[in-house]
Amino acid sequence: MIVHISDVHCGPEFQKNVFETAVEEINNLEPDAVAVTGDLTENGLLSQYRQAREVIGTIKCKNKVVCSGNHDYRSTGYLLFKRFFSSKPVLKVGNCVFTTISTARPERNDGEVGHRQVVWFEQVLKKYKRDTKIIAMHHHLIQVPDTGPDNIPVVDAGDTLRGIMDAKAALVLAGHRHRPWRWELKATQIIHAGTLSSERLRGFYAHSYNIIEVERGSIQARLKIVDSQSMSFNEVVKGRVRLPPFRA
Ligand SMILES: [Fe+2]
Repeated sequence: MIVHISDVHCGPEFQKNVFETAVEEINNLEPDAVAVTGDLTENGLLSQYRQAREVIGTIKCKNKVVCSGNHDYRSTGYLLFKRFFSSKPVLKVGNCVFTTISTARPERNDGEVGHRQVVWFEQVLKKYKRDTKIIAMHHHLIQVPDTGPDNIPVVDAGDTLRGIMDAKAALVLAGHRHRPWRWELKATQIIHAGTLSSERLRGFYAHSYNIIEVERGSIQARLKIVDSQSMSFNEVVKGRVRLPPFRA
């Protein structure tokens, strides 16, 4: 089982209680792997990196895949990311192989993969013929509904998507928009996690993470609202989601 979290945003908007509740739930699940798809910090500051390392360390799982987000690369934070988080760019866990793509670029909100990285992940993934191929990245390749005008996409999304199709990746895990969503493109599922613990909820007014089961090549993804119910992504994309009550 894979747990997919994103957009933790350590810093002023970090919701500590929500994060701690989520970690309790996640630790009870005993996942085989945890993917963290970027924006661990709000502004890439040293104190926020320290906090991010500490809180991510409370998740009990030896296979963590961590990628950077645009917020982590603010304030020259790109120099700090690798000092604090050094997950392997290729990680095999059971029958799954994860590759991590960096889409964040220093001091920019938009994302970029770049030709070299596309060639790299294609070459890597093509070696794993029988495994379920998973790519972890921060930005969105296709716009996510209910998140407003889109001026922070991956600038080379077309080339990246073609690489993903060619490499026969089964799953792309992403974040960035603070809105859980799933696009299905041929045999590839592109699954976005909402924000786990940022105050900045957007288009989906609950903190959440994803629980993904991979069995014999079939992928079943569920969305889990922190301290509340879980639901399939079929329900999420059809808008049949009952959010926990909140005060306006
Ligand atoms: Fe974010």
